[in-house]
Amino acid sequence: MYDAVFPPDFLWGAGTSAYQIEGAIYEGGRGLSIWDQFAMTPGKTYQGQTGAIAIDHYHSMAADVALMAELGLQSYRFSIAWPRVIPDGSGPVNQRGLDFYERLVDTLLAHGITPMATLYHWDLPIALHQLGGWLRRDTAGNFADYAAAVAHRLGDRVDWWLTINEPWCAAYQGYGDGKQAPGSTDLAEAVIAGHHLLVAHGLGMQAVRAYVRPHARLGLALNLYPVDPVDEREETLRAASMADHFKNRWFLDPIFRGQYPEHLFASWGVEPPPMHVGDAALISQPIDYLGINYYERSVVRAAPTTMGFEEVRGLADATYTDMAWEVYPLGLTRILTRVHRDYAPSLLIVTENGAAYHDVRDTDGTVHDPGRLNYVQRHVEAVGDAIRAGAPVGGYFVWSLFDNFEWAEGYRYRFGLVYVDYQNQQRIIKTSARWFGDFMRAQRLQHREGLVIQQE
Ligand code: FCB
Repeated sequence: MYDAVFPPDFLWGAGTSAYQIEGAIYEGGRGLSIWDQFAMTPGKTYQGQTGAIAIDHYHSMAADVALMAELGLQSYRFSIAWPRVIPDGSGPVNQRGLDFYERLVDTLLAHGITPMATLYHWDLPIALHQLGGWLRRDTAGNFADYAAAVAHRLGDRVDWWLTINEPWCAAYQGYGDGKQAPGSTDLAEAVIAGHHLLVAHGLGMQAVRAYVRPHARLGLALNLYPVDPVDEREETLRAASMADHFKNRWFLDPIFRGQYPEHLFASWGVEPPPMHVGDAALISQPIDYLGINYYERSVVRAAPTTMGFEEVRGLADATYTDMAWEVYPLGLTRILTRVHRDYAPSLLIVTENGAAYHDVRDTDGTVHDPGRLNYVQRHVEAVGDAIRAGAPVGGYFVWSLFDNFEWAEGYRYRFGLVYVDYQNQQRIIKTSARWFGDFMRAQRLQHREGLVIQQE
């Protein structure tokens, strides 16, 4: 069923991010981030849970990479914690922080696993937040300095880079609805933060480019959603368009067209962000690939909200994960082909895709996760369909390799291919991981055999 669709250099992998797995928040000279502060603030996360220990990956890195190799993982997407590298956000570089990521990268490479590094997965150093965080334009310059320090150390070994993970979440959930750190609730702030995150992406691209090998690929990851109106009424169609602008085009347009959609901010009743001369070109400089994080579609109806719509859940014929996200594989094909059609990036990589379930250990200690297995299998097929339809998709990463700290939801939901027992940090390979590992091995084998036949 998956035959011959995926090219030989297609990247198969799984992802994590620093704050969600590392723990060891006071070790190795690390500074604190907005996520440490947010999670420690009562009422912000499920049962007040934090990433202070998480899955203790900081201490079990070598064993974790060995497990990746055992699974047959071909590539691994991780993020680098800015406050480990530059504890105060700007100023002196903490070499011990870089040492950790260098060890990680070297261990991956020793196992033949391709590293993909994300520079910002939401853990802004607290010292920068105190100066204004993403509301302050200079934070983007600080990000570029940090990106340069990382690329200076790792650029001779890491060929896949992402500047910012999900600027929409960092901006809107961080400053607009307050569901994420730093937890502000002011749409005007979210708009400014979003712009500075884009400026940081642009400056970060330039900073990294200066230190990497010529064939290195640089990009960013956006969380995108196909949007469907719940019915065909005119007001519903208008609401769907508003939702598409808000969820997708707010960041897609500046990245690929160098401008925000017309009337976007006015339609929300806020001022556009402060644009400097040159911002448009900086933000829309060519990227080598776009990372797409896809989980579900968005079904909407008109509502008297700021954005003119609200999400509709609980559709009669739909299935949902335990986090109430719809399982909708066709949406992945649709978003890949739509981005290809409307924005034509040279390469697309699915940098996140996965499902949350309340997995439990069987009495024999194993973990069976049929829901996730089904989710991953069907989304892999959906990627194949997008390739058949002409979209230049070059990789697929499951979120996540391990169960981990799911931000405001704490440890309540499990996204991992690998189960983690939070009492003793034991890792248990779930059924979905076994399947995905076998699948990646089969893909490799198929191409190797193909090569032999071609050579004969
Ligand atoms: C994405 C985040 C990732 C993870 C998944 C479930 O928005 O990038 O860290 O939390 O959602």
